[in-house]
Order: sequence, then structure tokens, then C-alpha cells
Amino acid sequence: MYCLCSDASHDDIMSKQQLDPLPFHLMIDAYTKCAEGCGSCIEALRERFEMEYSDAHGATSVEAA
Ligand code: FES
Repeated sequence: MYCLCSDASHDDIMSKQQLDPLPFHLMIDAYTKCAEGCGSCIEALRERFEMEYSDAHGATSVEAA
């Protein structure tokens, strides 16, 4: 998937997140322009974030840190 508002692929956005992990809302602010843009990527990125960072209890390791 590609975010036109951020001019970046979701892979690129998640690569930045992997290099410097942030809580979800800070990831959106720091690594995307979704909040100022159309916002249509936010739910897809949230699903990917939750898949990559959720532990067995549903909490994210990034938020727990
Ligand atoms: S295309 Fe990704 S937020 Fe607009």
C-alpha cells in the first residue's frame, strides 16, 4: 500500500517505526502526514502496527515500554 499524503509506502513508514519505535499516535505524527492528509491510511497502519507490536495479551510492547 502507498500513502499519497505521506508520499511513502506503508513499508517505508513501518521501516521507520522499526528503527525508532513510537506509540501509534506518535508514529502517525512523526512518520506520516496522514493526520494532515486524508487519513484514509490510518486504519490500515493501525492494523499493521497492532499485528507487528501486539503481544499475546493485546497490549503493545511499544506502549508498555
Ligand atoms: S493517502 Fe494515506 S492518509 Fe491520505
